[in-house]
Amino acid sequence: MNSYWIESTEVDVNFFTLAENLSCDVCIIGAGLFGLTTAYYLSKKGLNVIVLDKSEIGEKVSGHTTAKITSQHGIIYNYLIQSFGTDIAKKYLFANEEAIKNIKEIVSTENINCDLINQSNYVYTTNNDEIDILKKEVQAVKSLGFNCQFVEKTSLPFEVCGAIMFPNQSSFHPRKYMIGLCNCILNNSGQIFTNTLVYDVKKEDNYYKTITSNHCIKSKYVVLATHYPFINFPGFYFTKMYQETSYIIGIDTKEDFLDGMYITAQAPTYSFRAVKDGNKNILLIGGGNHKTGADNISYNSTYALLEKKAKELYPNCELLYKWNTRDCITLDKVPYIGEFSSLLPNMYVGTGFNKWGMTSSNVAANIVTDNILGIKNKYEKAFTSTRLKPIKNIGEVKNMLKQTASSLVVKKIKIPDSNIQDLKNGDGKIIEIDGNKIGIYKDSSGNMHAVKPTCTHLGCTLSWNNIDKTWDCPCHGSRFDYNGINIYDPAIKNLEIYNL
Ligand code: FES
Repeated sequence: MNSYWIESTEVDVNFFTLAENLSCDVCIIGAGLFGLTTAYYLSKKGLNVIVLDKSEIGEKVSGHTTAKITSQHGIIYNYLIQSFGTDIAKKYLFANEEAIKNIKEIVSTENINCDLINQSNYVYTTNNDEIDILKKEVQAVKSLGFNCQFVEKTSLPFEVCGAIMFPNQSSFHPRKYMIGLCNCILNNSGQIFTNTLVYDVKKEDNYYKTITSNHCIKSKYVVLATHYPFINFPGFYFTKMYQETSYIIGIDTKEDFLDGMYITAQAPTYSFRAVKDGNKNILLIGGGNHKTGADNISYNSTYALLEKKAKELYPNCELLYKWNTRDCITLDKVPYIGEFSSLLPNMYVGTGFNKWGMTSSNVAANIVTDNILGIKNKYEKAFTSTRLKPIKNIGEVKNMLKQTASSLVVKKIKIPDSNIQDLKNGDGKIIEIDGNKIGIYKDSSGNMHAVKPTCTHLGCTLSWNNIDKTWDCPCHGSRFDYNGINIYDPAIKNLEIYNL
């Protein structure tokens, strides 16, 4: 079972792999929502853009979302006011509100058929103890000038103690939208190359050279629109972001369409959003979040929780889809958008969308486009990518640094006292042979696959993920298949393989 968004999209555009050296004004690395929206805006302004992606369009994070287009990013506005002040909180809110309007405008101007619908978004609770938190958030949002409402009734198939409703939000089919953007970019004479892995970007005089396996692109501007920046220095984004994995199931409820989009106020997270697919009312239920690469993650602690919830709410439902995704989480809960580093002029970044990439990607595209066009963007101050403000949630910083440090000290990790014969089919783990750590996976036919379980990003020891049969990095969330092939950034190189 794959993502509903991927399985339900017909791609009517042919994309090719980069096969020659080229020059352009702006080279955009990453064809997710941020990269494509930036390419759309810039190509519309007449700039010559080239977009490169190591996979197919919309097959990574942008194609694995719940696709809620909302400025209600959980309970965040009270926190933003307390941490950054009213001005920044207001900029954050209205940048995201404007992003909703921008997306609607693109869909309407370009006639993109992507199932866009208007609906309200809700953060709800079934716990009376959380009502105060919700009421404070309502006050905070209203103080910023946005008219949200506290409500006690929703369309959810269970009672809530209360909810915050944001009106005039939206949802869409993200992959259909992305294919629509691709068509616009191509019509505006932009170029898009898929299955083209970028290894490096080098600054040479007054231009950048973006290097792929066999070719390079020369450009004045570079936009790093990969999920997680793969360039470590300068920038140091790996010290200020980690990744979180979350799970989504799609069920045919066999009941009426659920009106509105919902998420719980506090953990455990449950997210609901419906999609109309012909006669079927598909409900997407999300949750089961954990830090990517965490130990002891099982089917029971992830998908099974969602399946149980689905059966509780819709006893006759049918499970149609299930998938998981990774999101970059910033330590201060605000995305990094703008200049990549003051040492690399004309290189831009948009990352750390904290699970709210539908609007954040549009905010990022507007800020980066304005920067390239030399226009002052009124929201950019809220998202400054090179910010050095004291980080408020210091607990998370310590957590991440501790995890990074302990993972980097490979020799101190305790090796389980086991051997290859003990492994069941379909299982994997790290063992030690002659002083070398070896990551072993025994497939369903009993064949062994062995890798060096050391992340090719910055050397952390990988964890075995028995749900997806992958090696996951606990430090910044890179992921590799059981044959060592890199699937998710920031790592770009494959793992070393052992022959047994
Ligand atoms: Fe950074 Fe693995 S993702 S060390």
